[in-house]
Amino acid sequence: MAAVDVADWSADSNDAVHISLINPVEGGVKPLHTFHPKMSYSIFGDEESIFGYQGLKINLKYNASDMRPGLQITYSKKFKTVGETSPTDLKAILENYLPKTAFGKTSDYETSITQIAPDWNPPGELYRTIESGGQMFEIWKGCLADLAVQQLVKRIQILVPMFIEGGTFIELKDPEWSLERWTVFFLYNKRSPEAAPGISPYVFMGYSTVYRYFYYQPLTPPISPSNSSKKAPIKRPATLDFQLPISGVSFSDLPCRSRISQFLILPPFQGGGHGARFYNAIFDFYLAEPQTLEITVEDPNEAFDDLRDLNDLARLRNDPEFTNLRMNSNVTVRSKGPAPKDIVDPEQVDKLRKKFKIAPRQFSRLVEMYLLSLIP
Ligand code: ACO
Repeated sequence: MAAVDVADWSADSNDAVHISLINPVEGGVKPLHTFHPKMSYSIFGDEESIFGYQGLKINLKYNASDMRPGLQITYSKKFKTVGETSPTDLKAILENYLPKTAFGKTSDYETSITQIAPDWNPPGELYRTIESGGQMFEIWKGCLADLAVQQLVKRIQILVPMFIEGGTFIELKDPEWSLERWTVFFLYNKRSPEAAPGISPYVFMGYSTVYRYFYYQPLTPPISPSNSSKKAPIKRPATLDFQLPISGVSFSDLPCRSRISQFLILPPFQGGGHGARFYNAIFDFYLAEPQTLEITVEDPNEAFDDLRDLNDLARLRNDPEFTNLRMNSNVTVRSKGPAPKDIVDPEQVDKLRKKFKIAPRQFSRLVEMYLLSLIP
């Protein structure tokens, strides 16, 4: 038998996967937006290659409002197994990432999405409405222990390995008290009823998950070489994780660090200021929430760092106390060597940092960026 030319039967997994946001229409579906994954190595392997098909298309359709997924795999030719060489079992792989309902018959899927009521609402509660450029946007917020929030997260989690480098799934089988530590924000475009006659006006644009960490505040300062002879600090666990659940105590009542864990704006909506609006809305929420003492971000990438820096700085520039910060006159800025300590009044900086609930490293970066911007 002739040797198999692997290239003839291999497809780039990022090109093969077509993700669409669709609406039901008479006799079928209408795609609103179609896009490809940015990466898929954690799903299909480091080579991002799928073996055993010609003309392969993996259509992952999402009903634009409730993000109900429907998967259809099409190809012109499939490789016939020879010995141990067989086509990639796509269903077996994708079953790890999508709910079972995604694998049904296309006609059943299309029927199911026609049955979604036009007055369908996203899960959780409406947190904020934003009007911009003649369009309406809504941010909905819910707790991951809420089954409707969980269902939506289950449907869209496959987008995490496709768009967030190193992003991981949330373990939805965790006990309820642990799921309660997650808050999920959903961003939607809400079309006018005329633009979406007879169907839900909502179009899903992105989402973000936020995790609460118990904020441990030591009662005494940690031992440092200069005060090592002083009284030792009281020993306490660094987190209460292992002690919960305690009856009557909920994580949402404890002082915490709220950490933005996953943040995604779908590709058709990127670069239009939606990420900025969404980030600021989430930040506003935690700034106003008394339990949150600090807002942090898990492993941000460069694009998210840019978004965060720009928006944090814009927020701080609206505060006269911040814009009054000046370098101490007795500090000489050296071109070499360690940065001079206390370039600005450390007490003032710490007070402002706490007011804006920004983590120390991020706040120092922002102060530095601001001071540099003052240099003529
Ligand atoms: N019109 C045109 N451009 C605009 C507008 C506007 N009205 N408003 C802002 N922009 C520009 C911004 O200036 C910015 O420009 P820059 O790239 O030159 O700095 C750019 O558009 C991006 O700003 P936004 O539009 O607000 O951001 P976006 O909606 O694209 O969201 C994000 C950014 C979150 C990184 C998005 O691209 C994304 O989800 N990427 C994939 C997933 C990802 O990387 N997530 C973050 C991982 S880290 C984590 O999850 C914690």
